[in-house]
Amino acid sequence: MEVTRPSELPGELLYIQYDHALEDKYLPSIRALISKDLSEPYSIYVYRYFLYQWAHLCYMALHPVDKSLVGVIICKLEHHVSHSPRTHRGYIAMLAVSSVFRGRGIATALVRMAIDAMAERNADEVVLETEETNVPAMRLYEGLGFLRSKKLHRYYLNGNSAYRLVLILKPTSSEVT
Ligand SMILES: CC(C)(COP(=O)(O)OP(=O)(O)OC[C@H]1O[C@@H](n2cnc3c(N)ncnc32)[C@H](O)[C@@H]1OP(=O)(O)O)[C@@H](O)C(=O)NCCC(=O)NCCS
Repeated sequence: MEVTRPSELPGELLYIQYDHALEDKYLPSIRALISKDLSEPYSIYVYRYFLYQWAHLCYMALHPVDKSLVGVIICKLEHHVSHSPRTHRGYIAMLAVSSVFRGRGIATALVRMAIDAMAERNADEVVLETEETNVPAMRLYEGLGFLRSKKLHRYYLNGNSAYRLVLILKPTSSEVT
């Protein structure tokens, strides 16, 4: 008898962009998936802050059969004025993949989609913070070319420190030789 492990997928995952029309169907599972592993408890307003303004920078991976949420990335893109020269900065705010589906490239695919969407919208760079102890996340991002730009001591509510990681999409004039 063939045994189907929970992590086996009977088809290709569906990767879709979030849309406001999907809020009732997917926002509860987005919140559940993200709050399960992240140290910061986010209120509904934090999710709406990102999703109302940057739905086009949120991607979801859905199970091929029941269309349940398997992974999600939430981002924003803004002009960063305190930086000289002014940069158009993409920011990865939240990323999570359901534990049984990890290790098969889903987060990599979601991050690449978000980076491509930000690059298309003329982002200069993409930044994020992650806990220094989060080995899977550090490897994921460093594997995609992100560099450590700053260590943020005791950044999280749990007392853990973070790294700010940055992926330069367009070198600034001072970086061009
Ligand atoms: C971090 C997370 C999103 C990775 O998701 P994933 O779909 O398993 O990641 P991928 O399969 O795309 O893995 C990409 C790379 O990350 C690294 N990685 C992933 N899981 C790892 C693990 N458990 N240990 C070490 N490295 C790991 C590997 O370098 C991997 O590349 P490789 O398979 O070519 O070696 C997932 O573990 C998760 O949801 N964690 C909880 C939430 C979280 O920490 N989010 C990030 C906050 S910034």
